[in-house]
Parts: sequence; structure tokens; C-alpha cells
Amino acid sequence: MLVNVCSIIGFNGQITDAAPLLVDSLKKMEYRGYDSVGIATLNDGKILISKGVGKVAEVDKALELHNLPGHVGIGHTRWATHGGVNDKNAHPHFSCTSEIAVVHNGIIDNYQELKDELSKEGHVFKSQTDSEVISHLLEKYCKKYDFDYIKSLIATCNTLKGSFAFVAIFKNGLICGARFDEPLIIGVAPSAIFLSSDVLGFLKYTDKAIFLDNGDIVTIEDGKYHIFDINNNKVTRVITQVAWELASTEKGKYAHHTIKEIHEQPSILLNSINKNNNFQQFCEYVKNASNVYITGSGTSYHSGLLAKRLLAKYAKIKAEVIMSSEFHYFSDTLESNSVVIAISQSGETADVIHSVKKAKEGGSKILSIINVPTSSLARLSDSFLVLNCGPEIGVAATKSFLAQLMVLYNIVSVMSNSRLDLNIAMQKKLVKDVEKTLELDEYIESLMAKLDNEIKHIYILGRSIHYPIALEGSLKIKELAYIHAEGIAAGELKHGPLALIDNKSVVIVLNPVDETYQDVISSSNEIKSRGAVIIGISNKHHDIYDEYIELPECVDFLYPVIEVIPLQIMSYYLALKMQVDPDYPRNLAKSVTVK
Ligand code: M6R
Repeated sequence: MLVNVCSIIGFNGQITDAAPLLVDSLKKMEYRGYDSVGIATLNDGKILISKGVGKVAEVDKALELHNLPGHVGIGHTRWATHGGVNDKNAHPHFSCTSEIAVVHNGIIDNYQELKDELSKEGHVFKSQTDSEVISHLLEKYCKKYDFDYIKSLIATCNTLKGSFAFVAIFKNGLICGARFDEPLIIGVAPSAIFLSSDVLGFLKYTDKAIFLDNGDIVTIEDGKYHIFDINNNKVTRVITQVAWELASTEKGKYAHHTIKEIHEQPSILLNSINKNNNFQQFCEYVKNASNVYITGSGTSYHSGLLAKRLLAKYAKIKAEVIMSSEFHYFSDTLESNSVVIAISQSGETADVIHSVKKAKEGGSKILSIINVPTSSLARLSDSFLVLNCGPEIGVAATKSFLAQLMVLYNIVSVMSNSRLDLNIAMQKKLVKDVEKTLELDEYIESLMAKLDNEIKHIYILGRSIHYPIALEGSLKIKELAYIHAEGIAAGELKHGPLALIDNKSVVIVLNPVDETYQDVISSSNEIKSRGAVIIGISNKHHDIYDEYIELPECVDFLYPVIEVIPLQIMSYYLALKMQVDPDYPRNLAKSVTVK
């Protein structure tokens, strides 16, 4: 399977040097993918390419990417397992004549047959990527259509199968791009035009964006853009003002985005409730549905698992949660008049998008909970709620998880006939509780410092509404610190996992005082007698804990919101202890836009 989650950027600045802007833009988008980087600029009618393996800053330092001359250019950061991480496979990719260079995000499903065909026709490939077929196809069709660029682009897009967005530079200074199931956005600045996979690629220079429709083709020349559909009709798309502030993409006083985003949580917590005014409409869909399904990936899936428990207990609504990568296998069984609630920070996760498309085809209504209101998922939805937590740069989802929980709590609150009441006073108290929990930062850092450096396994136990948080905490530890961690429903211990526990194990128990408390203490006893170290996270101390993280007192149902915070902080400090970069975990990318 190919995996390719990249950032692409094109820039036509007329009088401004392209290279420093491209490098800067790629740094801003690096969270999407980060194993190699490259840029191409046009100088004196010649396309110059510089590319290498590593993060943008490293490659820039070594190759001085920012010094490539020219006012027009394209750039790329790559995240790939296909074709190996090396200079040759880094983008941009030239055509045979070096008169066209291409950067690409997505997968070309039929690249092998195209490569074979093009090779027979005399094209010589220099990389092992699927992406390189695009530059060769453009070259082939430019020749065939006598440099009618739009015709050549259309023919290229019609030949490619898969999901892709690409940006190409031609030796006459033309920049063009195409969007087919991968994001591509035009940034309109006073004296420059950008073409990017993410608004962060140009937000420093302009907040005016055009979110291209699927199937759109764009050309940029002399500081002007033109958009066409696949039938060669000129089309108009609206210019949107992007609400995100650039300040929220900087690290500020923090060493990493991840810890900054963890500490931002009190300030964004209530935005998700107060800045959405369509909760009633959203909930009407849920009320009128014959069946409710929830889908999401990774952290967003964990939010769904908590929502299922809250909906059942407080709103008396049964919902089935299916992780998006598995959804496909159930989609035929969805009843008509079902509602699918899709949860996704990015709104671009391929597994989620495919699930939703399948469900839509079967007649389900699509409701979504997203952070990016202009995302593909938003466009596919009958109604959506926005997280409003600002851009999340750290690859690990932290503040977006809390924001998702707040949206979900509010849905349950609206539907629960006051059984779960998230009134204003409670919301304010919750903000205080989150602030108080964040004050544990230094204490948790010291706890993590005490743990054995050779620590190999961490288990997190919880029951009922705490179980999804156990899963979420273990995901954070795995991805940030590269330590094996497992979230376990505490009652399942004796059905197998207890065999793993010995005097080298570290077990975290999520144990606020509620209906699950006593049973979790019993599980802790079973663990203690096998010699493991127990870290208790609770509002009540117990002698069984070797270490204790004290949570503020709050209403039972809100404990998941505050107990996840110590787990986020632990994961961050474990990453530092393991000397790995918490913002950019190896092998991962922020938006997984391919299956
Ligand atoms: O953008 P999404 O919420 O759809 O992303 C889903 C997952 O890829 C994401 O939550 C991933 O698991 C994070 N790295 C978790 O921290």
C-alpha cells in the first residue's frame, strides 16, 4: 500500500523572490509530512530544483533552498513509505526535458501501468514514486496538444486514477494545479497568488482563500488565476476570509506546539459550545434518525466511544461506533434514515471521507464535527458543528480532543432532558478545573523523570466513561514517546491482560470517585500483588497508589475531560525523556489523507 501525506505549495509573486516564501510556507505545513523536502523555481527560463532528505530547516540549512533565484516556484514536503526516503524520491519531479516539474499529494492508483506505457513511449523515470508519472503525462499531452495547457491538464487528470492534488511549474512561468479528492486552496495576496494544500501555507501573507472544488483545475500566470472544470469550462469560486489567526500557529513561550496546545485548553474549551449556533438543528437530525452511527479515526474515534456511553446513559439513545477504517465493511448494513456522525479534526482523513461517502450513497444523513469548516467532510455533510479550537499543529491531537468532547457533551445535554446539564455555571467551573489540572504540569514532569529509563510497557485502566480516555491516553504515549501502551477496560484484566503484569509494569488507573471506583480499586489490588507500579489519577487518594495525581472535584460525567490532561502531559514529558520530538512523531502525519 502506498502512503503519501504531503504538503504542496505553488507561488507566483511577480516581483518577490519565491524561494524564501516557499521555504517559510513549507515550514508552516511541515506537520502534515516531514521526511524530505524540495523546491523548484524558475530563473531565466530554466527550472531549478533543490531537494533533500530531512526536515525543512535541516535541508534548507544544508542546501540553501531559500537562495534559489526566481519569482515563481513550487515546493513540497513528503511523508512516504513508498519508494523509500531519499533525494531521488523527494519532490519536485522533472519531466524528461526538465521543462515541467511537479509536486503531488495523494496516490496515483494506476501509476505502474502508466509508467510502463510512458516508458515504452521513451520517457525515462528517475524516481520510484507514483508522482513522477504526472510530469511525464503533462509533457506528453503538451506535445500532443501543442502546448494548450488546459487541454493538457485535463487529459492528464483524465488519465490518472486515484486521489490526488498536484501543482506544476512550466518553463514559461506558468503554475498550474488540479484537485481530485485531495485538498488544494488558492491564496489571494495583494501581489502574489499561492496554491497550497493548507491555508497555513499562505496565512502569513493573506487570509483570502479559495477552496477549490473537487475536479477543479487552476492556472496562475502574471499574478492572475483562472479556474476550469474538467470539461474546460471557466468557473468561478468564492473567496473566503479565513478566520484563523497566524499567532495561533506559533509556539510562543513554549518549546513545542504540543505542550502549547495542551496549555491552550482552558481558553478554547467553550468556543466549541458558544461559537456554534446550530446545535438544535444538528440534534433534530439525531432525534429523527432510525439509527445513529458514529465514526472517526484515532483520537476522534475515542471521542466517539465516549459519546456512545454518554448518549446511552443520559439521552437514552443507542449509537454504534465504528472506526472509520472498518466502516466500509459495515456500510451495506446501514438502515435507510440512519444518521452518521463523523468526527474529524481535519475533516480530510481519507478513512472518514470514504466512510461518509459510502453512508451517503446508502441514504444516510451525514452530520459532522470538525475543526476545519472548509474541509471536504464539511462539504459532504448535511449539518456540521465546528470545534473552534484554532489550528492544531502538533501531530498528536490534544486540544481538538477536548473540543470534540465539549461538542459531544453539549449534544448530549441538548438531547438529555436535563439529565446531563451543561449549564453556564458548570461550564465556567470546568474551565477552572482544567486550569487547575494543568498546574500539575511540573509535578507530572517530575513523576515521569522518576520512571525507569528502560520502561517498555505502560497500561492504562478505566471503566465505563473512563475506558475511552484510557485508550486515548495510550494512543498519546505510543505516538509521542514510542513506548508500548495499552488502554484496558479494567474489568477485562482477568480475562487475559493480567498475564502481562509483573514488577516491571507501570499501570495508570483512571479512578475518579463514581460508580466504577470500587471495582477499579479491586483491579488495582490484583495488579499490586503482581508487583507493578500503580499511578492513580483520581480525586481521592488511596494507599494502593504508588504515585498519585490529584484531580479537582467535579461532577461525575465531566471527569473524562479533566483526567485526559495528565495523560497528555505525561506523554509529552515521556517523549522528552525518550529524546524524541513530540511535535513530529516518526512515521506519522497530521492529516492522513490517503487510505
Ligand atoms: O483529523 P482527524 O481527527 O480525522 O484525524 C484522525 C487521526 O488521524 C488522529 O486523531 C490521529 O490518531 C492523531 N495522531 C492522534 O493523536
